[in-house]
Amino acid sequence: MRTAAIILAAGAGTRMKSKRPKVVHEILQKPMIEWVIDAAKIAGIDDIVTVVGHCSDQVIPLIDDESQIVHQLIQAGTADAVRVAMDSDIFNDRSGSVVILSGDCPLIGSETISKMIALRDERDAGCVVLTMELEDPFGYGRVICDPIEDEYELRSVIRIVEQKDASEIEAAVKECNSGIYCFDTEALRDALSKVGNDNAQGEFYLTDVLEIISANGGTCLAYTSSDPSECLGVNSRVQLAEASAILQRHINEAHMENGVTMIAPDLVWIGPDVTIESDVTIYPNVQLYGATTIKEGTVIGSNTRLMNTIVGRDCNIEETIAIDATLDDHATAGPRAYLRPGAHLCEHAKAGTHVEIKKSTVGKNSKVPHLSYIGDTTIGEDVNIGAGSITCNYDGYNKHATKIGDGTFIGSDTMMVAPVEIGRDAVIGAGSVITKDVPDGALAVARAKERIIDGWAAKRKSNMSK
Ligand code: UD1
Ligand code: CA
Repeated sequence: MRTAAIILAAGAGTRMKSKRPKVVHEILQKPMIEWVIDAAKIAGIDDIVTVVGHCSDQVIPLIDDESQIVHQLIQAGTADAVRVAMDSDIFNDRSGSVVILSGDCPLIGSETISKMIALRDERDAGCVVLTMELEDPFGYGRVICDPIEDEYELRSVIRIVEQKDASEIEAAVKECNSGIYCFDTEALRDALSKVGNDNAQGEFYLTDVLEIISANGGTCLAYTSSDPSECLGVNSRVQLAEASAILQRHINEAHMENGVTMIAPDLVWIGPDVTIESDVTIYPNVQLYGATTIKEGTVIGSNTRLMNTIVGRDCNIEETIAIDATLDDHATAGPRAYLRPGAHLCEHAKAGTHVEIKKSTVGKNSKVPHLSYIGDTTIGEDVNIGAGSITCNYDGYNKHATKIGDGTFIGSDTMMVAPVEIGRDAVIGAGSVITKDVPDGALAVARAKERIIDGWAAKRKSNMSK
């Protein structure tokens, strides 16, 4: 039977004090809503419906094409949001499990989702709600359970009370509602029609559904997570930082288990979609995000930030920022290189200190060691670019290409005014401004001739001291 999930993401998240809706805020450079969608997918859920509302124009672009989107026009509460989702076509004549996830609960693990689906199935329950025991439960709904456990060590839920509606005794209960549930679709549909909004917030609470299902003779069970951190709801910037720290630790531990050395794991931030092979060493203050891949034996030095960057084997990267770049095996970058989209260092190539490279290929064994800007350029193999050399690729209106052939030597402080082509095995004299193509094997010098005036300095000295 196909399983559906509804992800609630229509709320504003006022406690974030942000112009942006809560679920677009990022953890390790990945928006919260994407963490939740990915967990549902990894759990094998077939149909995902996301409920959007507040600032939906910022949320919708983050939702992939496979998931459906429904609009909750007025944010009248979590039960109303689920009702809106269940009016969509995929719920026509549907039965079986439906999982409810919150866009602001990004730490939820896919195994827990799968476990809840299996439990509900086995027990033929109307609802399984994920709960956690918290020392400080303030702010969460409290789950009031029958104290007697069944043979599966699960307890029946009597009802869930929101913080704002809780009596003193109820508020003292430490078992909290994670806001994550697995319902029987028919039981949920039926109960939703009976939810009212007579409560402290005047909202339609999804939590009321459990009491209604029980009253109808259904079973509602509390499944307590062994890891309460996966239920952390992100409502404020402090909780956003907490969630980030927890995920950072999980991800780093998994990489270390796989053979990656981290000198100070608390000072390394790695996104969930990064791949790292064994025997990679990562120094402190490193951030690796997006679809970055790092192959065996590479060393990532301090103060490096890589986004969607592919790094080959045995590379050495020091204090480098790279975005959408590629480094082949044995390439080196930095200290302080800036590799922008489309930068490609081939095998054994080098982008050294204060070097910026954009949309350019640096061929095998070629070096750009110091203080250069290379843009829209193809550099062949075994080329040396002298210190301070620059491709002048922009005329104020358009970008133009530069081509440099294999084995060519570019003297220091050369300006290559694009479009321009420099052949193979050519030599450019230092300080040249190259505006015309240079043939293979030629020397090009384009600078003022040096004048020598004998005795001039001594004459100046005697004039000055008069
Ligand atoms: C909710 C639960 C609470 C639980 C907590 C766990 C209810 C009534 N309360 O409280 O028991 O302990 O989550 O984190 O369900 N949303 C909509 N439309 C709405 C209202 C909310 O889509 O009309 C979305 C929000 O964007 C959010 C999620 O539902 O992603 C939860 O809403 P939120 O207002 O954060 O509920 P809590 O007060 O945290
Ligand atoms: Ca919340």
